[in-house]
Amino acid sequence: MDLFRKKEINLNQTSGMKKDLKTTDLIMLGIGAIIGTGIFVVTGVAANQNAGPALSLSFVLAAIVVILSGLSFAEFASRVPVIGGPYAYLYVVFGEFAAWLTGWLLIGEFLLAVSSVASGWSGYVQGFLQSLGVGLPHALTGGYNSENGTYIDLIAVLVVIFVTYIVSLEAKKALRLNNLMVFVKFGIIALFIVVGIFFVKPENWQPFTPFGFSGVLDGAALVFFAFLGFDSVAMAAEEVKNPQKDVPRGIIGSILIATALYIIVTLILTGIVPYTELGVTDPVAFAMRYVGHGTIGAIIAVGAILTLLTVTISMMYSLARLLFAVSKDGLLPKFMTEIDEKHRTPRKATYVAGVAALFFAGFFPLNILAELTNIMALTYLMLVSLGLLKLRKMFGKPKAGEFKVPFVPILPLISILTCFILMLRLQPITWLVFGIVMVLGLIIYFGYGYKHSKMNE
Ligand code: ALA
Repeated sequence: MDLFRKKEINLNQTSGMKKDLKTTDLIMLGIGAIIGTGIFVVTGVAANQNAGPALSLSFVLAAIVVILSGLSFAEFASRVPVIGGPYAYLYVVFGEFAAWLTGWLLIGEFLLAVSSVASGWSGYVQGFLQSLGVGLPHALTGGYNSENGTYIDLIAVLVVIFVTYIVSLEAKKALRLNNLMVFVKFGIIALFIVVGIFFVKPENWQPFTPFGFSGVLDGAALVFFAFLGFDSVAMAAEEVKNPQKDVPRGIIGSILIATALYIIVTLILTGIVPYTELGVTDPVAFAMRYVGHGTIGAIIAVGAILTLLTVTISMMYSLARLLFAVSKDGLLPKFMTEIDEKHRTPRKATYVAGVAALFFAGFFPLNILAELTNIMALTYLMLVSLGLLKLRKMFGKPKAGEFKVPFVPILPLISILTCFILMLRLQPITWLVFGIVMVLGLIIYFGYGYKHSKMNE
């Protein structure tokens, strides 16, 4: 058995895709995938239960962790610009087993991100319906929680079915909406800031850290979620004009823009509404209703509903392509490599993704879904930073023009450590599900993948 068999990657080989994306396109792509449920939904519960007004500090801490990982990611993307993102990077440096683990974690991350964003979408739709006086039966309004009397999040399930259907047919058209939706996002965030700033009462920021520093750290481990999606920038490397320069700029640029917006929005949000009242599913719209601007709240809610839908579609799109790529290498069953003749999409891979996402979106509450997404992402980002150390050993320092992580090995090591610290703040249930998912991943690899891998040929 050879767990370290490595794939030869020919950097001169091209996929035949058009190479016309530039830094600004990549930043749009990044923002399109990054800004979503994290800021529009998760902030409410995170301020209410974890960090209080100091949630803005949690965002600063999470941003530091993300930027440190983003650096390693950027060097890989600059030096190994191939299809498959981190899954392919790890195939190059550590061989098949680590690549499989990374692929499995990425599949988990995207799958749970689809479920989380669908769940967040449901929160906004329900808040919006309620503001119109329409309510669903309580049992159908949230994931399984018998104490609370909720059994299934019906709207989240319906949106996953809808998104699966769209992505299996015409994802490209929906993705084209992305740029428009990025402007809608900027628009509603700007509206919130411009109006909200006049209603900030500094006394709402007192006490600033009601749950202490440990609450700030717990908040960071949760809102780390809000930064995920920057990896989609690297996945587009094949279609970028000058990947060595543009991909790192796209990654770091979109993270920095998101960080700035997140800090401002959370400061205003917690300045308008006392954190004790923020435990709602649509905090940004809620804050506007709270200060008597129901119409602005409704505009923000509609904007969030539209943009969260595109985030769900783009995550589902990437997930289906990832399943397709991993199956193509033989590590997952072949049927997922089938391409629908009429629509030229990996339809069966999309259905598999849809059924799994539906299960999580329907039965798990958003905060657990977000934590699960984070634990998968944090683990693979640790592997990427570790991989960077190996990359430097194998191929030396980057050439002129390629992106270079400064202070190697110190920065990648700090990155691994900070990811691990955030992981330790996640709840026991998150670790339990994570453990089950990892065992399942090992069973699939040793029971199926190793035998069917293309590497056997
Ligand atoms: N960062 C993405 C979001 O917040 C997953 O929706």
